[in-house]
Amino acid sequence: MRNSFSLLTFFLVCYPVVTASTLVFNVIDYGAVGNGLADDTNAFAKAWEETCASSSSPTMKVPSDSTFLVQPLRFIGPCKSRSLTLQIDGNLVAPAHPSTWKCDANLCHQWLYFHRVDGLTLRGRGTIDGRGHKWWQNKHLNRPTVMEISNADNVRVGGGLRFKDSPMMHIVLNGIQSVFVSDVTVEAPAKSPNTDGIHVQDSTNAQIHNCTIGTGDDCIAIVNGASNVRISNIVCGPGHGISIGSLGKNGAEDKVEDVRVSDVVFLGTTNGVRIKTWQGGRGYARDIHFERFSFHDTINPIIIDQFYCDHRHCTTSKSGVEISNVSYRMMVGSSRRERAVVMRCSEAVPCRDIVVADLHIVTAKDTAATCDCANVYGRAQGHLLPKISCLEQI
Ligand SMILES: *[C@@H]1O[C@H](CO)[C@@H](O)[C@H](O)[C@H]1NC(C)=O
Ligand SMILES: *[C@@H]1O[C@H](CO)[C@@H](O)[C@H](O)[C@H]1NC(C)=O
Repeated sequence: MRNSFSLLTFFLVCYPVVTASTLVFNVIDYGAVGNGLADDTNAFAKAWEETCASSSSPTMKVPSDSTFLVQPLRFIGPCKSRSLTLQIDGNLVAPAHPSTWKCDANLCHQWLYFHRVDGLTLRGRGTIDGRGHKWWQNKHLNRPTVMEISNADNVRVGGGLRFKDSPMMHIVLNGIQSVFVSDVTVEAPAKSPNTDGIHVQDSTNAQIHNCTIGTGDDCIAIVNGASNVRISNIVCGPGHGISIGSLGKNGAEDKVEDVRVSDVVFLGTTNGVRIKTWQGGRGYARDIHFERFSFHDTINPIIIDQFYCDHRHCTTSKSGVEISNVSYRMMVGSSRRERAVVMRCSEAVPCRDIVVADLHIVTAKDTAATCDCANVYGRAQGHLLPKISCLEQI
C-alpha cells in the first residue's frame, strides 16, 4: 500500500514532467483556453519554446475536445532533442478573416511554419482548419499555406491528422531529407484556388501513403528538386490529380527523378496523372513510374504536356525539360474526354522511353477512348484500350 501510494504521489507531483523519461508540454499548462475564440498563440509559442529546449524526446500536446485559435506560428529549430512530437488531438483554427491575421512584416506566407526541426513527428486526431473561404474570394491577396515544413531531416506526419480549407496550399514539404506522411486527410472545396493537398519540393526520400485528398488543385504536386519519392494508396478527388511539375518556368533548370506512384483512385478529378513542363526550361523529369490507378469520370486521365503555360503569351523554344523513362502500367477506368491519353512533347526535346502497359480506359459514355501524342518515343504493350498507336518506336 505504502509503496503504491508513494508511486502515485510521485506521478502527481511530477506530472506533466515525467512519462517514461519523455517530457510532455501541454498547451493548456501554458494558458491556452481552447474555446475557439480566445487567442491561444502565446501559449503555443511558450509550449513550443520549452519543447524545443528539452533534450529528452519531448512531446508538445494539443489536447482533444478543444479548439484552439492561433495566429501564424513559427516552430523554429534546431531543437535540443533529436526527435520531438507535436501531438495534435484537438482542433486548430486560423483567424476567420484575412484582415485579422497577424503576420510578421505583413507577410503571410504560412500559418504553421516549421523550420530546421529535425526528427519532427506531427500526429494526432485533430483537424487543422485554415478557414480559407474569405481568402479565396479575394484573388489579389497573397494567400498563406496552412503548413510548411522546411529544411529538416527525418520528418513524420500522420496518425489521422486532418487538414482543411487552406487559404492556399495545405502541406508544403520543402528541403527535407526523409519524410514519411501517412494517414492524413486533406479537404477543401473543388472550387478553392491553388489549394494543393501535398506539395513536395527540394526533398529527397519522401514517402506518402494511405492519404485521402480532395481540394481545388493538385492532390499531390511533385516539383523541382524532388527525388526518391514513393507514393501509394491515395484517394484523390475532387481536384486536379497528381502532378509532376510544373517544371522549367521562366527558363529555370528543374529536376525531378526517381518517383513511383501506385494504387491511386481518382474520383471526379480534372486530371489523373500529369507531367507538365514549360517551353524554354532546362533539366529533366526522369525515372518516373505510375501503376495501378483507377479513374472515375476523370477529364484527362493521362497527360504529358511539355507546352504547359498558364497565360496567353506562350512561345515554343529550342530548349525544354527532358522527359524520359516514364511508365504507366495497369490503369483502368473512365475518361470524360474521348482523348484519354495525351502526350505532347516538342520536336527539339522529344520524350523518350515512355512505356504504356495494360490499360483499360473507356469514356464516361462507354465509347472508345483515343490517344494523341507528338514526339513521344517508347513502347506500348499488353492489353491496351485505347490502342496506343501514337508512340514512335525507338
Ligand atoms: C496503409 O494501409 C494498409 C491497409 O490498411 C496497411 O496495411 C498499411 O500498413 C498502411 N501503410 C502505412 C504506411 O501506413
Ligand atoms: C528507369 O527507371 C528505373 C527506376 O527508377 C531504373 O531502374 C532504370 O534504370 C531506368 N532506366 C533507364 C533507361 O534509365
